[in-house]
Amino acid sequence: MLVISNAHAGQILFLGAKKTGTTAGGIGKYTAQHVELQSGSGPGRHESLKVLGIETSCDETGVAVYDERQGLMSHQLYSQIQTHSRFGGVVPELASRDHIRKLLPLVQLSLEEADIAGAELDAVAYTAGPGLIGALLVGGTVGTGLAVAWGIPALPMHHMEAHLLAPLLEPDPPQFPFLALLVSGGHTMLVDVEGLGRYRVLGQTLDDAAGEAFDKTAKLLGLPYPGGPALAELAKAGRSGQFALPRPMLKKPGLEFSFSGLKTAVMLEVRKLEASGPLSASDRADLANAFEEAVVDTLVAKSLRAIKQTGRDRLIVAGGVGANTRLRQQLGAALEKSPVSVYYPRPEFCTDNGAMVAFAGLLRLRNGAQGSLSVQARARWTLEEL
Ligand code: KG4
Ligand code: ZN
Repeated sequence: MLVISNAHAGQILFLGAKKTGTTAGGIGKYTAQHVELQSGSGPGRHESLKVLGIETSCDETGVAVYDERQGLMSHQLYSQIQTHSRFGGVVPELASRDHIRKLLPLVQLSLEEADIAGAELDAVAYTAGPGLIGALLVGGTVGTGLAVAWGIPALPMHHMEAHLLAPLLEPDPPQFPFLALLVSGGHTMLVDVEGLGRYRVLGQTLDDAAGEAFDKTAKLLGLPYPGGPALAELAKAGRSGQFALPRPMLKKPGLEFSFSGLKTAVMLEVRKLEASGPLSASDRADLANAFEEAVVDTLVAKSLRAIKQTGRDRLIVAGGVGANTRLRQQLGAALEKSPVSVYYPRPEFCTDNGAMVAFAGLLRLRNGAQGSLSVQARARWTLEEL
């Protein structure tokens, strides 16, 4: 039995093993059962593999159970927006502490929602990087601890690989190979995906990621954290063509991105306007519109270039910025008359979540991943190292 004290939540969770369903109130719902630790190989394949996924790389605690046959059995998410909003961005130490508070209760809820006991799982997959190191360590230690207690493998997962595979969670998923545009808060890249674990990064950002540029520009415009969705909302009220912002890296050949100059261009416009008084509501909206248009134009143009270069006829878009409506519309319009199909995860699986980690873990497990008993956490980790 594994007993983990979660003092902040005022709970002690017994996640040891077989479910009895007799005790009310959640706590103590699982009775103790001795589980032999079977290093690496796990307890043997169940008829249909089931994986618990844990995501704690940044400011969202996500937990999910994915079943090979039945699909997604549960999906729990806790967003730390309230914790960080008064600081205008993610405070790493607070993020770690919030994950400690929320992770085990979410595991409990997720198991209940899936109606499964820990010992019936085949693996625990957790995000091992890239991300905030303290936050990753929470998911890694809890995930590995649970896997040890349940006698199943713990699989350290790459966060961007999980994003990249998220469109496969949807009905009518794309087949390999495909091209991937990954646009999150920490990364922006185009990846040629031949199959599971066969990733070739074609181009990435030289400075800020697209999501990061959204967040920083939103802050400049006085919008609350998290900036991306708030800026996209404000942009809807803005008029097109009021500000001429650059289209970074479009004139240069290649598939690299750069967004920090765009953010600076917005800052210069703000300063110019503020010289004659506070920014008006319409100026803010017009600037948000111009910024979003510039980012989306760039992402679309580079994606088209990558399609041409690789000859792929499937494009997937994933990561938080993949939830952006204008990006979806423009890509759709640009590819409407081409043979290229575009695939997205639903918006809640664009941003960080446990479902994509559980699913990526399942694919890795099916592919022979053995897991590791040592906790893995890497702040930096390129996709090509996989
Ligand atoms: O993938 P994600 O949840 O976390 C990372 O792995 O970084 O992405 C979060 C990023 C944030 O920068 C957020 O502002 C941005 O995605 N984002 C958006 C939208 N929704 C989230 N950016 C533009 N438009 C959106 N609708
Ligand atoms: Zn992410």
